[in-house]
Amino acid sequence: MPTSKIDETGWYTRVSGILGTRFPIILGPMRLITMGAMAAEVSNCGGLGVIASSGLSADSLRAEIKTALEYTNCPLAVNIPVYRPNALESLEIAIEMGIKTIYTSAGNPANMIKRIREAGLTVIHKVSNEKTALKAESAGVDAVVAMGFEAGGHVGREKITTMCLIPRLVDILSIPVIAAGGIADARGVVAAFALGAAGVEIGTRFVASTECPVPDFFKAGVQSADSEATLLLGKDEMPIRVLKNHVTMKVSGMLDNEADSVMAKSGDASYVQSGGNKDTAVMPCGQIAGVVGKSIYIREIFSEIIHESRIVSHKIKEVLLSVNEEEI
Ligand SMILES: Cc1cc2nc3c(=O)[nH]c(=O)nc-3n(C[C@H](O)[C@H](O)[C@H](O)COP(=O)(O)O)c2cc1C
Repeated sequence: MPTSKIDETGWYTRVSGILGTRFPIILGPMRLITMGAMAAEVSNCGGLGVIASSGLSADSLRAEIKTALEYTNCPLAVNIPVYRPNALESLEIAIEMGIKTIYTSAGNPANMIKRIREAGLTVIHKVSNEKTALKAESAGVDAVVAMGFEAGGHVGREKITTMCLIPRLVDILSIPVIAAGGIADARGVVAAFALGAAGVEIGTRFVASTECPVPDFFKAGVQSADSEATLLLGKDEMPIRVLKNHVTMKVSGMLDNEADSVMAKSGDASYVQSGGNKDTAVMPCGQIAGVVGKSIYIREIFSEIIHESRIVSHKIKEVLLSVNEEEI
């Protein structure tokens, strides 16, 4: 087990306040990957562990929440893609089992908000453009996770990068914005705060963590990636950013509509958690994989980010505060 310690007491922002966490750092929900044990470890490190309900039966979701609650007393969330037929059932399970934050995505959260509020829970919602962000705010969510085009997994059709999406949403929303997409280390975290985000969500970096329950060939793919290692599948319909390999290069070489229908037909069968190998599995991955080094424990990732954010901030301060404004 990791030996490093996270000694800082925490970073207080509107997001850590709302979530009740020590750090405003969120584990990006990942289908059939961010299950109970991994989510609990992120929560134990002071972040928000998120259990992805996508692809889980009611019994499996209950089992994953139970596992998480056995490992941690810290805040946890359940991610519920709104469009899924079992979304309301997943919500009732989360409420019944004492989860305090519901993290909605992929659809309009409006029809779930009343029930979430009745149960006294917090709700955050994932968006990738300003129209859905404004809708989520008027529906009454507590914060949005704004995910840029460089992220791993499904990305916005509008192709807006984190660098442009975050400051724009910070300007037009009153609720806090959590930045996602392209954040893997302290440099990304500090940059997100500079853009006005009050929290960050990390996906790809955690795929390579020791505890992440993906096959070793997936972790190796993330670790050996460069900045051109990903491509988009399902381009205009439902774009998804994945690692380049034999199968994804083949599919992406087809006409768009053919590619979409291949993805639709192969469905879950080709997703990495359903089988395959380094050449045949579809592995969602962000462009930031290029900076992910060796596989380390989640606790070490937290410790590194927290420690190095201080160093990065000091360096920036030295440059930006060196000028005497009266001399300008
Ligand atoms: C392997 C993988 C699977 C993902 N699955 C989901 C998912 O099921 N639901 C979801 O909302 N986001 C999913 N995402 C997106 C993450 O939750 C997160 O927003 C994203 O990874 C952040 O960008 P980054 O990869 O640059 O850190 C997935 C990402 C990856 C890398």
